[in-house]
Amino acid sequence: MNLKELLISANKRVDDFHEMQRLGAHTNTGEFIPAGVHYPPITKYPEIKYEEMFKGYTVPEDGLMDVYVHIPYCSKRCIFCHYPSIYNGSDSEKDKYLDAIEKEIDIYLRTLNIDKIKLRVALIGGGTPTDLSPKQLERFLKILTKKCDLSNVRQFNYDVSPSSIIGAEGIERLKILKTFGVDRLTIGVQSMDDNILSHMNRNHTKKEALEAISNSMKMGFQTNIEFIYGYPGQTVESWYEELKQIVKIDVHELQFYRLKVDAYGDQQGTIKKHIFLHPDECPIAEDTMRMKQMVFDYLREFGYEENLRRVFTKKKSYISLYAFNQCCMLYDQIAFGLTGFSSLRDRFVLNTQHFDEYYKRISEGRLPFNRGYVRDKEAQQRWALILPLKNYFIRKNHYKKVTGFNISETKLYPIINKLKEYDLIEEDEKTIRLTSKGAFFSDEVVGLFYDTRFIPKERKYFNEGPLNPYSLNE
Ligand SMILES: C[S@@+](CC[C@H](N)C(=O)[O-])C[C@H]1O[C@@H](n2cnc3c(N)ncnc32)[C@H](O)[C@@H]1O
Ligand code: SF4
Repeated sequence: MNLKELLISANKRVDDFHEMQRLGAHTNTGEFIPAGVHYPPITKYPEIKYEEMFKGYTVPEDGLMDVYVHIPYCSKRCIFCHYPSIYNGSDSEKDKYLDAIEKEIDIYLRTLNIDKIKLRVALIGGGTPTDLSPKQLERFLKILTKKCDLSNVRQFNYDVSPSSIIGAEGIERLKILKTFGVDRLTIGVQSMDDNILSHMNRNHTKKEALEAISNSMKMGFQTNIEFIYGYPGQTVESWYEELKQIVKIDVHELQFYRLKVDAYGDQQGTIKKHIFLHPDECPIAEDTMRMKQMVFDYLREFGYEENLRRVFTKKKSYISLYAFNQCCMLYDQIAFGLTGFSSLRDRFVLNTQHFDEYYKRISEGRLPFNRGYVRDKEAQQRWALILPLKNYFIRKNHYKKVTGFNISETKLYPIINKLKEYDLIEEDEKTIRLTSKGAFFSDEVVGLFYDTRFIPKERKYFNEGPLNPYSLNE
């Protein structure tokens, strides 16, 4: 499809966007509120007492768990990023963090009363977990693999930056990852336009990103690359030029994030201030919608489908199992490190975002979480609906297994029925899923199932239409 053809379909989505605003489902300002990766949203978690967090919790019957480890180091600060990280950190600082991670895993093992974690899927993220020297990377992987039983592991994912896996040192890192069984890499490419990469303050060029991708593919890693759209300076035309280059890259998975301007944790990235100072640089909401629809239409021509929300692959099996397990299977996941979050059946535990507090808690022999939420029956019903609906689809049997209720018995079912009237949700005997329009507005649609206490924006941000999230949930 050429740009003119793509815009015909994209403009229809803009009409849908205006309709969603009129109905009250989309913010009237056009602001984007990401939803459906956690519920309730992490910014809404209260402080929680240490003893309360594990009261009544037992490890799953088969003992299998997914593990996330957060390594909060980066070489440079990207202006869109909201994660707390240390930039250009010293080796001794990183060694101190690895010492703490080792202790944290031991404390967790003691708390759960197990000798080793029976690992199903692992994800090491950040920050940039390869912003460690090869020696430190090896040390970290030795720690992790010693504390986990890897005999059942299905996927071992690592987030990497392009610059950390190129050149002699980069190849050395990749060899270390291979040795320890890492089989899947996510590379933050972000843009195929060097001007935008430099505006983002990325530490790599497009050429270096392509070299990193080629290294990853040549060494046999399943490779996922990530992009951001709706970024200052991007236009519909420039995005089309980027897409033409993106489809030529030979990888397993392409992931597209709409720019998030507001923080979703405690730290606000500089992007908000930048946009405030340079409002004209930012694409208008309508153009961002066009860019999003162009991804669907253009990629389909090259055999890519959205197989998990915002994730495009040629084969279903290429998706991240970590994301699938978290959002669709609702499996238990344990997280280690700063900002990590553990999802344990009916509760969610959030680690501190502050280094001082993290080190203090570990030195006291305590886990470093400071906030969390144990979901009651209703919150559990909402969580088990929101995550799978947003990211994949709801399997009614699975819903009943997780919550103990048939979905049609819950107070959420009338909302599902209402959304069918607006061509946003469809249902068959076994499943409930988003229509293609619903999938395009997946964040907004699942936002309609939030308890009013947890809707991130006040009522004034939504028109008083039939799909106003406050009136639907009162
Ligand atoms: C947790 S981040 C870490 C990525 C990795 N450190 C890197 O820079 O390559 C994972 C992905 O989220 C996306 N992302 C991060 N901040 C974002 C923002 N403010 N808006 C949209 N996407 C964002 C980026 O595509 C990024 O690759
Ligand atoms: S986007 Fe990645 S590399 Fe950039 S500051 Fe955030 S975590 Fe670090």
